[in-house]
Amino acid sequence: MKRRDEPIAVLTCYDVLFARLLEAEGVDMLLVGDSLGQVVLGYDSTLPVTMDEMLHHGRAVVRGAPHTFVVLDLPFMSYQVSMEGAMESAGRAMKEAGVQAVKLEGGDPETCEVVRRLVGAGIPVMGHLGLTPQSVHALGGYRVQGREEEAAARLRRQAAALQEAGCFSLVLELVPGKLAREVTDELEIPTIGIGAGPHCDGQVLVLPDALGLNPGFEPRFLKRFAELGEGARSGVRMYVEEVRARRFPGSEHTFGEEG
Ligand code: KIV
Repeated sequence: MKRRDEPIAVLTCYDVLFARLLEAEGVDMLLVGDSLGQVVLGYDSTLPVTMDEMLHHGRAVVRGAPHTFVVLDLPFMSYQVSMEGAMESAGRAMKEAGVQAVKLEGGDPETCEVVRRLVGAGIPVMGHLGLTPQSVHALGGYRVQGREEEAAARLRRQAAALQEAGCFSLVLELVPGKLAREVTDELEIPTIGIGAGPHCDGQVLVLPDALGLNPGFEPRFLKRFAELGEGARSGVRMYVEEVRARRFPGSEHTFGEEG
């Protein structure tokens, strides 16, 4: 798609209902992101997410979207401790969840070595640079990365190193548009941006954010494509009202009282 200059539409996904819907709408790639920690499980960061939680949701997504390319995030500390740990985590993602690829964060030499080993074992790996939420405390918060010249140069070097190590694609999160454009032009592999401007080869958004299910989260980079939260709230309100007023269920919902 990058070679054909076709923009790649990626969304995160965590369950079978939305996996079916996203596959039916032709989304190019689904990411079972560890953002599930915040948007589905109610943690205040991605750090507590476990491999078992990722697998649980990954399996549901694969069941719902069997014809779509699904990538699963390797959670915090599932690939940083040892090479064996990284191989085992990625192997579980492929064998137990049935996804087509894994994603991991960072671009230092140790991470590139992990990428090399996983790719050597036949596991496609997506990289992730810029704001890498698993390092939120080291980065000092959720803020734009690569604004300073030195940080931008480092990000460009790490992007090239991840490509060289064998990544098939790279997420760029919260980086200035100009830097994302430079990285995108420099790489042969596709970049997928979130808060990285329009010049990436593709875009990804966190699904509940994009569909208006995460009220109050309104960063500059986010566009809400639907207001499902509003619809859901009014549906629930109506249900409660009708049950309390004994209007639901009516005779049309009751067996033996059809006429
Ligand atoms: O966890 C996630 O959802 C991600 C995307 C924001 C790229 O990594």
